[in-house]
Amino acid sequence: MLSRRRFMQLVALSFTGLNFIEQLLPLVDKTLAQGRVKKPTVIWIEAGTCTGDSISLDNAVHPNMKKLLSDIINLKYSWLFAAAQGDRAHEELQKVLKEEEGEFILVVEGSVIQANNGKYNYIWMKDNQPITGLEAVKDLAAKAKYVVTVGSCASFGGPARMSPNPAKSVGVWEVVDKLVINVPGCPAHPDWMIGTIVHLSLYGVPELDSLNRPKMFFGELIHDKCQRRQAFEDGIFASYPGEEGCYFKVGCKGPVTYSDCPKRMWQDNSEWPVISGSPCIGCTEPGFPDAMSPFYERLPHISALGRKVTANTLGLSLAGLAGLGITGHLVTSIYKGRVQKKLVEGTKEQSEDQGKSKLEEIKERLAEKKRKSVNRRKNKW
Ligand code: SF4
Ligand code: F3S
Repeated sequence: MLSRRRFMQLVALSFTGLNFIEQLLPLVDKTLAQGRVKKPTVIWIEAGTCTGDSISLDNAVHPNMKKLLSDIINLKYSWLFAAAQGDRAHEELQKVLKEEEGEFILVVEGSVIQANNGKYNYIWMKDNQPITGLEAVKDLAAKAKYVVTVGSCASFGGPARMSPNPAKSVGVWEVVDKLVINVPGCPAHPDWMIGTIVHLSLYGVPELDSLNRPKMFFGELIHDKCQRRQAFEDGIFASYPGEEGCYFKVGCKGPVTYSDCPKRMWQDNSEWPVISGSPCIGCTEPGFPDAMSPFYERLPHISALGRKVTANTLGLSLAGLAGLGITGHLVTSIYKGRVQKKLVEGTKEQSEDQGKSKLEEIKERLAEKKRKSVNRRKNKW
């Protein structure tokens, strides 16, 4: 059987340009042939979505989609990929609910639209009655073994939740009383989606961060692994997207965004936004896009050496650290004023309040929900 250790090595190996899914496929095939684990049955539903995450999965170049869906997972319901459509598709869905209740993985793409009891988002018919995304998500999540969200909308509300949010869109965890594993991104990377599903089926729930994102994909700050980081430290800042240098001054949200984009890369491991000439817009974070807007204005804060300081006072704040003998290249550069001066010169700062309340609200509510579920478990025992 493919060991978890080997699986984690593959996750890391894909940083060297090797295609994760291509490497994973034969090993999962072999494991399934041994008969000790079953191919996971997956029900993939779309609520308030643009279908971008399904399309992202379709861009998993190697292997092709047919091989991926038939060899690694048993996709029983999906508007885009399943062979069965219309009534046949719903018969398949009902069959899974009857025969595999508590066994299947539910994947939700898209936000949950709550306004008017979800009536702006009918997703199928049952007994001649239209069923809303809200009803379907609640019902299927209660019957699933695991619930996984793909994309920022299903995870945290995403673009569908943008102010003033007339549809009252929210993330799946806000309407479901169960652990929801969040795989955000606008869209989510194919490796993040397939890697999470394979981990669930072979080893159970992966290690998660405080926002229920798998740490194997969302454990590090983009800024810490970015190929333009040296330019940041040397105080070489681009004045427009596409130019040489670091994109902090043109709004890069890499310093506050967790994902492995710089190492994993996109389009068959060949590029990612910052290398292709665009600042990161923070699509894997809660509150995106409001909390990350305006996209081309610089962040009011920056994290440096474990401290959060304003970009305007970066030099002053770090001078204290330099005085204590912490004299890394970054501190030295900033202390000498090379970075700080260039960091703020000629830029417009993103308002500190922009989207902050939404971000804080999502984080606080998620933490509250976790506290309640831990207390419930304690009381049960
Ligand atoms: Fe890279 Fe953006 Fe950080 Fe600059 S600010 S080093 S472009 S992640
Ligand atoms: Fe999203 Fe930033 Fe990666 S915009 S795709 S998290 S580089």
